[in-house]
Amino acid sequence: MHRVGYAELAAAVSNAGGLGIITGLTQPTPEDLAPEIDRCRDMTDEPFGVNLTFLPSFAAPPYPEFIHAIIEGGVRIVETAGRNPAQYIPALKAHGVKVIHKCTSVRHSLTAERIGCDAISVDGFECGGHPGEDDTPNMILLPRVGEELKIPFVASGGMADGRSLVAALALGADGINMGTRFIATKEAPAHDNVKQALVAASELQTRLIMRPLRNTDIRHLVGGAGNRRVLQGGELDAGAWSCGMVAGLIHDIPTCKELIDRIMAEATAIIRSRLDGLLAA
Ligand SMILES: Cc1cc2nc3c(=O)[nH]c(=O)nc-3n(C[C@H](O)[C@H](O)[C@H](O)COP(=O)(O)O)c2cc1C
Repeated sequence: MHRVGYAELAAAVSNAGGLGIITGLTQPTPEDLAPEIDRCRDMTDEPFGVNLTFLPSFAAPPYPEFIHAIIEGGVRIVETAGRNPAQYIPALKAHGVKVIHKCTSVRHSLTAERIGCDAISVDGFECGGHPGEDDTPNMILLPRVGEELKIPFVASGGMADGRSLVAALALGADGINMGTRFIATKEAPAHDNVKQALVAASELQTRLIMRPLRNTDIRHLVGGAGNRRVLQGGELDAGAWSCGMVAGLIHDIPTCKELIDRIMAEATAIIRSRLDGLLAA
């Protein structure tokens, strides 16, 4: 998550039993990513990954150098997103790096499988960030991907608690990915005002802004400076920031360990009591 996915959060998620992910492009240069990977390794002995988001070519950062920093940093899992990562797969595979590609459609998931990705993170229309162009929510997208894909996939978008986990598993996913929910944790390096705003928000308070307004009317709000002032400075009206409608399901600010433990306990209780109970009735 841009401007939130620093080493502190990635390490906390990995220490809590999840797979924490550093946002590669939050570091201004590949030279800055290398020490960020080292910082994460200092904070956890568990595996963690790096996200590399492939932006439109007119804005392309030096991707080969970012890939080099990831490989040299000994990271074994990369989450790619955005444009097709095909040209970077051979280098990553040659160094034993597993690639999870984030997709918002069945056809992109199948392309990712064909080019050698190891797993897919399926981002439904509910997701925070960029929801793609197909607007298919996870209730439909997850089982559709499950019908066609052979490699494993996790459900991303709208995931917050044990109910989400059990539902995602029922829809065919092998696990869940959470973005917005992790911003409202103690370890997330986001301003407390942002965390409190997520707790206060209902599911009705997000807007899909980039598409309907065609970028230009809101350019002054979505630029980097305003986004930084919100997420890091806590000035909530200084710019736009990403979060999903799952904000409606966020009611507290736990540690990552408390959150993940609670999700596992809730999921277990739902399966053992509610679902088993329904069968027994
Ligand atoms: C503040 C924020 C920044 C994000 N930045 C990125 C990014 O740079 N690259 C990316 O692939 N996804 C990004 N995402 C999307 C998340 O990685 C994840 O797919 C999404 O948040 C899942 O939906 P959820 O928020 O409902 O859990 C971002 C999400 C948020 C909330």
